[in-house]
Amino acid sequence: MDKFLIRGGKPLKGTVKISGAKNSALPCLAATLLTAETVTLHNVPYVKDLITQRRLLEDLGATVLTPELHTQKIRAANIEIYEAPYELVKTMRASVLALGPLLARFGQAKVSLPGGCAIGTRPIDLHLKAFEQLGATISLESGDVVARAPKGRLTGAETFFEKVSVTGTENVLMAASLAKGKTTIHNAAREPEIEDLAELLNKMGAKIVGAGTETITIEGVESLGAAEHTIIPDRIETGTFIIAAAITGGELEIQNCQPQHLAAVIEKLREVGVEIEERGQNTLFVKCCKNGLQSKDVTTEPHPRFPTDMQAQYMALMTQAEGTAAVVETIFENRFMHVGELIRMGANIQISGNTAIVKGKTNLMGAPILASDLRASASLVLAGLAAAGETLIDRVYHIDRGYETIVKKLNEIGADIERITENLTMSAE
Ligand code: EPZ
Repeated sequence: MDKFLIRGGKPLKGTVKISGAKNSALPCLAATLLTAETVTLHNVPYVKDLITQRRLLEDLGATVLTPELHTQKIRAANIEIYEAPYELVKTMRASVLALGPLLARFGQAKVSLPGGCAIGTRPIDLHLKAFEQLGATISLESGDVVARAPKGRLTGAETFFEKVSVTGTENVLMAASLAKGKTTIHNAAREPEIEDLAELLNKMGAKIVGAGTETITIEGVESLGAAEHTIIPDRIETGTFIIAAAITGGELEIQNCQPQHLAAVIEKLREVGVEIEERGQNTLFVKCCKNGLQSKDVTTEPHPRFPTDMQAQYMALMTQAEGTAAVVETIFENRFMHVGELIRMGANIQISGNTAIVKGKTNLMGAPILASDLRASASLVLAGLAAAGETLIDRVYHIDRGYETIVKKLNEIGADIERITENLTMSAE
C-alpha cells in the first residue's frame, strides 16, 4: 500500500488549479446509461472512483472513450447486463447510482447492496422506497437488490425523502426522467452536484425543474439523447486547499473553482480569521493569518450549510486556532476516524457523542499515522503540512479516490511531500 511522507512546516505559496467534482462526475457518468446515444463529459477528474465508475459502465456493455485525460465519450447503446456486481460495489458505494438509470431504461436492475464503510452503515433504504413510489418492485436476493418495473416502465409519482439523501435524490432524478408522467421529489438534496446532474439530463432531453431546491419536478419523456457537458469544479477540493493555505500560514491563488458552491465554508473560514478574496468568477486568493486563527464551532448539515465532507479538514485547522471549537457531525454516525490520528500528532481533542471538542493552539509533531477514509486522509495531509518534522501516512489509496494528483499539486505550491510506493521507490508524482 502506498504511503505519503510529508516534511511539514513550510508555508504554501503559489497557484493551484481545481479539478472537476468527483461527486458530480459519478452521477453524470451513470446518467449516460439512460440513452443509446453518445454523451460527452468534460472536466472529469482523473481519480480512482471515476476509473471504477468507468469500469462499471464498460462491464455493463457501454463503450467509453477518453480522447483526452479529462474527457469521456460514453455510448451505452449495447447494454447486455443490468447488474452492478458486488466486487465493484464493495469498492465504491456510488455504483448504486446505476440502479436508477438501468431500472428506468430497461425496466430492471440488479445491484449488490452496498455494505457499510468507515464513516457509517450508509443504507440505501430511501433510494429503494422512492423507486417503489415510482411503481418498482424491490426484492433482496442473496445480497443483491433486484428492482423491476412491472409494466417495463416506471410511473411518475410524488416521492418523499424522510432524510435528505444526495445520491438518493440523484437516483430518483435519473429514474423519473424516463418514467411515464410527472414526478415530484420532496425534501430533495440541494447540493450543486444535483443541479449539475439536472443540467446534463435536461441537455439530454429531460424536463426537470427545481434542481437545487428542496422540491424538484420531472416530466417523464419517452427517450433521452446525446449531449455534451462540462462537470463543475470540486467544491470540497477547493475547501481543502483553502485550509491547506491557512494551516501552513501561506498564501494561495486557487483557480478553476466556483466559490458560490462553498459559501458556508468560506464564511466559516473568514470567521476564524482566514483572509479569502474572490478574484473574478472562478478564482480565490487565500492568505493567513495576520491576526492568527480563532476557534469557532461548526455543525455539519445538508447543503447549503456547512458540508460533512469538510468536517475533518476543518478539525485539523482548529488544532491551530486559539480557543476551543465544538465540531458537531450530524450526517454520518462515525466520521471521527481522523481524531485518534490527530491526537497522535499532539492535537487536544475530546469526543462526546457526535461532538468533538478541539482545544488549540497545539503544536503538531510529525508521526506515523493511518488514513481511514477519503476526507479523513485529507485532514491528515493538512496536519502533516503544518506539523514539525516528518509525517508518514499509510493507506493513502483512500485519498487517491477523490483528489487528483494531490502530491504533484502540493509540491508545486511549496510543500515537501513524496509518495512511497510498494517497492519503496519515491516519486513526486
Ligand atoms: C453523498 O453520499 C456523497 N457521495 C458523500 O461524499 C457525502 O458525504 C454525502 O453525500 C453527504 O453530503 C457522493 O455524492 C458520491 P446521503 P450519499 O445519502 O449520497 C443516510 C465523499 O467524501 N441515508 O446524502 O451516500 C446516510 O446514512 C463522500 O466524497 C439513509 O439512512 O450520502 C447518511 O447518514 C463521502 N438511507 C445521510 O442519510 C438512505 O437510503 C446522508 O446520506 C440514504 C442515506
